[in-house]
Order: sequence, then structure tokens, then C-alpha cells
Amino acid sequence: MSGLAQLSQVLAALVLVAAGYVVAVGSGSAASWPLPLQQQCKRAVDRGAKAVRNAAVRVVRQGQIPAHIAFIMDGNRRYARRLQQQASMGHTFGFHRLESVLEWCNELGIAHVSVFAFAINNFDRAAEEVAALMALAKDKLQELAEKSDLVRQHGVRICVIGNRRLLAEDVRRVVEAAEQATRGNTGMRLNVCFSYAATDEIAAAVRRVVEDVEAGRLPEDKVDEQALERRLLIPGPPLDILVRTSGQIRFSNFMLWQTAKMAYIRFVDVLWPEFSFFQMFCILVSWQLAHSRIQQRKCA
Ligand code: FPP
Ligand code: MG
Repeated sequence: MSGLAQLSQVLAALVLVAAGYVVAVGSGSAASWPLPLQQQCKRAVDRGAKAVRNAAVRVVRQGQIPAHIAFIMDGNRRYARRLQQQASMGHTFGFHRLESVLEWCNELGIAHVSVFAFAINNFDRAAEEVAALMALAKDKLQELAEKSDLVRQHGVRICVIGNRRLLAEDVRRVVEAAEQATRGNTGMRLNVCFSYAATDEIAAAVRRVVEDVEAGRLPEDKVDEQALERRLLIPGPPLDILVRTSGQIRFSNFMLWQTAKMAYIRFVDVLWPEFSFFQMFCILVSWQLAHSRIQQRKCA
């Protein structure tokens, strides 16, 4: 049976089970069901949701898989505000969503993922929020590198991209340790853009070009687009897809060079902690449908 047929069958079964359970929960009658029946229904809904996700992964994997996807993870503070929580809690929710998104990317076989975790201009935010973001980054980078399944089972390599001179010594140490611990890994490459701005990345690349010309490593007549591109901080294949959540339609100084080269750009009107597998699935399928058109334009 084709992946699509399997997906629609599982979807239909799930809709039936879920609809019955959800209607019963909504009307309050599920609360009066015997506990084992409630638990069984919940387990069936969870299993169905997992089966739908697995089938969706198989559907996507039958088509072209993007080599490089990037996320502007916007909307954490608005999410926290909605729950009447502090901004720092929004970033913690945001990190949990990032973990799920990385698992999806890994399952889908995407080789390079870049995420905007802290912009250079985020240093201008309230001191407590900056301190909370630095503490979160230290904590989570260490946890990812040392304990996560992504690194231990799937060999994810962590690279932190940005201007390290702006980071405090303790943060720099954790960043270097996470990179060192995962350096030999051959799985998905995760670029955590932290203390990053695209214009800063481009200015640093220009400085490197000048240094290399002055040192005689780069002949002056070889200073071209490729020479500059090779000196950018974010390596790897060209960017295929850029996703920004929260409904804001702007780039905010993220991967400007890389998006200029025919990246497929999607602005999604949900806050980052709410970004769902279904939204990711729709973006990937629409990219696959547009892919051949994009390739033709790249060659034109
Ligand atoms: C933008 O939302 C989000 C950030 C500035 C931080 C994003 C960071 C994470 C998701 C976790 C970082 C993880 C690691 C491993 C370093 P916002 O604060 O602009 O929210 P708003 O648009 O609602 O104001
Ligand atoms: Mg924002």
C-alpha cells in the first residue's frame, strides 16, 4: 500500500476514535467513564497520533529531502505572556519545541539545521532576560551534548555560530565543550546561531578576505562571491528552506546571504512554542512541490 493510502486510512481511524473521545471529554461525559476506559481511549488517541506522524514522515521521505533548513524561533515571550508567565519561561518552552523540531528533522533525514537562538541585538534586552537566556543556553547546550538521544543515538554534531567575543567566558567554555564533545559526529549538523547577526557574519568574512589577500593566501584577482562565501560562518549546503514563526514578516538580520540564493521562505502565523509537526509537514510538502520549479530558476 502506498504511503499516502496508509496515511489516509490511519487518519480516518484516528479521526473516528479521537472524535468520539474528544466529544465525550468536551461534554464532560468522559469523566464519568470508568478510569481504565478513559486511559484506553487516551492511549488509542496517542497511538493513532504517532501512527499518523510516522506515516507522514514516510510520505515526505518519498520525495526530495531538503539538505538545509533554518528556523527563526520567534514568539516565545508572547507565548509566555499569554500563559501569564515570565519571558524566561517562554524561552524554556521554546527550547522544548526546538528539541521536538530537531527530532522531526532527524527522522526526516535533513542533514543541516540552523536555528536563530540569540541575535547580537538581543544583548539590548532587559538584563534579567539576557541573563536567563545565557543560563538556558549553558544548561541546554551541555544537556544536548552530554545526555540527549539526538547526540548519543543519532550522532548530531553541534556547531555554535556567531560572534564569540561578545560572550562571557563561562558561556564560551560551554559552547566550546559542546562543540568538542560532538566534533567527530557524522549525523545531522545543528548550527546554533548564538550572538549572531548576518551583517556581522558578512563583515567578518570581508575582514578574512582582506587578511588573506594581505598575507598572500588569496590572489587579489580571486576576490569574488565564492571567496567571500567560503569565509562565512555558516558552512554546508545552500539553504533550502527558511521558516519564521509568530506571524512577523521580516528576516531580523538572519542568514541574509544564504536566503538570497533561492531559499524557500515561509512565515507561519503561530508562536514558536506552538509550531506543530503538521505545520512542518505542510511546509516540506509545499517545498517538494515547488522544488523542481526552484531548481529550474536556479539554473536560468
Ligand atoms: C525569539 O522570541 C526567541 C529568542 C530570542 C530566543 C530563542 C531561544 C530558544 C528557543 C532556546 C535556545 C536554545 C539553545 C540551545 C541556545 P522573542 O523573545 O522575540 O519572543 P516575542 O517575539 O514574543 O517577543
Ligand atoms: Mg520576537
